[in-house]
Amino acid sequence: MCVNRSTVGFGPGQPSRTSIVVAALRAFGAREPDASVRNPDWLAERLISSGELQLITEHPISQAVREDYQKGRQNREVAGMSNLMLVRTRFIEEHMQRALEQGATQVVILGAGFDTRAYRFVELLKDKTVFEVDYRSTQEIKKRRLAEASIAIPPFVHFAEIDFKKDALADVLSNAGYKASERTFFIWEGVSMYLSESAVRETLRAISSYSAPGSSIVMDFAGQAMIEMLQKLPELSQHNYTTHWGEPWIFGVPDGREREFFHECGLEVREILTVFGREATRRYLTRSDGKRFGTPRGGGPRDAKLSTIARMMWMLVTRRSKWYALAKLDVAAQ
Ligand SMILES: C[S@@+](CC[C@H](N)C(=O)[O-])C[C@H]1O[C@@H](n2cnc3c(N)ncnc32)[C@H](O)[C@@H]1O
Repeated sequence: MCVNRSTVGFGPGQPSRTSIVVAALRAFGAREPDASVRNPDWLAERLISSGELQLITEHPISQAVREDYQKGRQNREVAGMSNLMLVRTRFIEEHMQRALEQGATQVVILGAGFDTRAYRFVELLKDKTVFEVDYRSTQEIKKRRLAEASIAIPPFVHFAEIDFKKDALADVLSNAGYKASERTFFIWEGVSMYLSESAVRETLRAISSYSAPGSSIVMDFAGQAMIEMLQKLPELSQHNYTTHWGEPWIFGVPDGREREFFHECGLEVREILTVFGREATRRYLTRSDGKRFGTPRGGGPRDAKLSTIARMMWMLVTRRSKWYALAKLDVAAQ
């Protein structure tokens, strides 16, 4: 597939550029010498070539991933976002391993992007079934990269195309061979914030009504206040590699009503981890010498105008929100 960098914007024929950014951040984080704060995604580096990095030059990771690791970490945006990815990757993988130990036989990765779990956990997954579900254009580029990087696609991996905005997840899964009678672990990482509320609700409803008892999902989500902040502050750097690439953040879970929101979708909250909170830092951002590795906040207002900093700070202190969090949700008993 030939992608023209100047016209690229997520949609038919054009891959998600944010999926390249997060994979590049994982590849970068996997180079950390201290194993206790190293991103476990050692395969990401092989999946992301210079061709993909050419598509994300607006993001500082496109440069940092090509230079010395410690030098790259001097960029606050790179260090913060790579820390955030570390929290996200490890939280999801801990839950995935637990779900498999507890009897899940299928793993469904929704909006999989450059997710490498099916290729890193081959031993753990060899007698399970994994479905990678994504937008066609992103999936095409991933399959091409797998072939170019000589990463074998294990026989338990099945690909399925979806547009969450219009396709019914239940139909897509059943056409791909998914068995609703088998206990399943779903991963929905870095996707919900890009969809409308109705698309998010429909996807979660499809999961809860079309999966066996004991099934669960891990996903990340933005809080409503985060979306409002992004809308009010178009000068924030995050827009350069989301909104301006045709991938704006548009949906946030209602603040203070997270449990109700998921319950309405047929899911019970087992855990919510605020990524910017102390618990996330204690679990995932503490080095082997006990020192803090850094913050998961990327960029921030340092380079912004004083008025932007003031407005951002005002929102941060006056709004009660999880801002950005990870959730483990169980399918409610019918
Ligand atoms: C930020 S990337 C996350 C990729 C991957 N889950 C990860 O965390 O590395 C967003 C992913 O959502 C997918 N996506 C966004 N909107 C979509 C839609 N309407 N239908 C299907 N996939 C979509 C993109 O193709 C991309 O793979």
